[in-house]
Amino acid sequence: MILILGLESSCDDSAAALVTGDRQVLAEAVVGQNSAHQPYGGVVPEIAARAHVEVLPGLIRQVLDEAGVAIADLDAVAATAGPGLIGGVMVGLLAGKGVALAGGKPLIAVNHLEGHALSPRLIDGGLGFPYLLLLASGGHCQLLEVRGIGRYRRLATTIDDAAGEAFDKAAKLLGLPYPGGPAIEAMAAEGCSSAVPLPRPLVGSGEPHFSFAGLKSAVQRAVASGAYRPADIAASFQQAVVDCLIDRTRLALERSAAPTLVVAGGVAANGAIRRALQRLAEQEGRRFAVPPGWLCTDNAVMIAWAGAERLALGLTDPLEAPARARWPLDAAAETVRGAGVKA
Ligand code: KG4
Ligand code: ZN
Repeated sequence: MILILGLESSCDDSAAALVTGDRQVLAEAVVGQNSAHQPYGGVVPEIAARAHVEVLPGLIRQVLDEAGVAIADLDAVAATAGPGLIGGVMVGLLAGKGVALAGGKPLIAVNHLEGHALSPRLIDGGLGFPYLLLLASGGHCQLLEVRGIGRYRRLATTIDDAAGEAFDKAAKLLGLPYPGGPAIEAMAAEGCSSAVPLPRPLVGSGEPHFSFAGLKSAVQRAVASGAYRPADIAASFQQAVVDCLIDRTRLALERSAAPTLVVAGGVAANGAIRRALQRLAEQEGRRFAVPPGWLCTDNAVMIAWAGAERLALGLTDPLEAPARARWPLDAAAETVRGAGVKA
């Protein structure tokens, strides 16, 4: 059975995992850096890169020991090669190259976004191509038709902030810790989702793109007004994000014949978002798939799995494979007007 070591280091999680071609996770470890970045309210790239240097080698040792396997037993080493914070990406990719070189194993340079995109296929062996993917994380918010390994058509992206970024910024305004998504979700459970009038940017517009910057500004004004309970702001904010995601995804579904709607990325860990998308899929007569929460936020299992999918097609990379800060899944997708660095 094919055995892949996966490594992830594109943002603030260092992770290693061993996954087999028949969908078994033999071992996995993730070490987050939340406390290191918390004083700054966001991820500091230099701190992240240094932490990956310190942590990753130990994680590789740990998963190998836990699964009782040696480097010689591996069929390939899969490491995130981008997109992400370039210092961290270089650390993980170089660690992967080191293991591949030492063991004489093939290297697979994995696109982190493809890791998220293929993660539902690790859980659901019956999930075939094509499917419509809402990829919502801290760095991205896109709708993609997934047609096969390495074959993506982007239908929409954000013209400003990513959905997870909006959660993180709203959380900061509410005095909640980073990362903001889980903190807002917990606080929203105590609040009323219709208490604070907030905008739904781009809802109803003709292309299924996203925008969250105006929502953040509205949260800022609601907090500054002192007129609302923080829990009501959190609940109303979360509802506004849900409404934006649903409206935009509905439009994309109308433009795609894909039989299944899939949501992945850190934001897909949100219960309200998962439930709303499941309802949408039912209304639109599509199947719905979402990975479990632990597989939505950054991890190395999804990188190892993407490696397994690629190796099965004979797709390996040379040891010279570059680290990339930007690496769109759909290279042909045009830059959207108003788009910043996240397109
Ligand atoms: O996929 P991910 O772990 O890292 C990136 O590739 O960006 O996504 C992290 C993002 C953060 O912005 C975090 O606030 C958000 O996912 N997130 C959530 C939840 N858990 C994580 N957003 C909303 N609700 C959650 N429960
Ligand atoms: Zn991610």
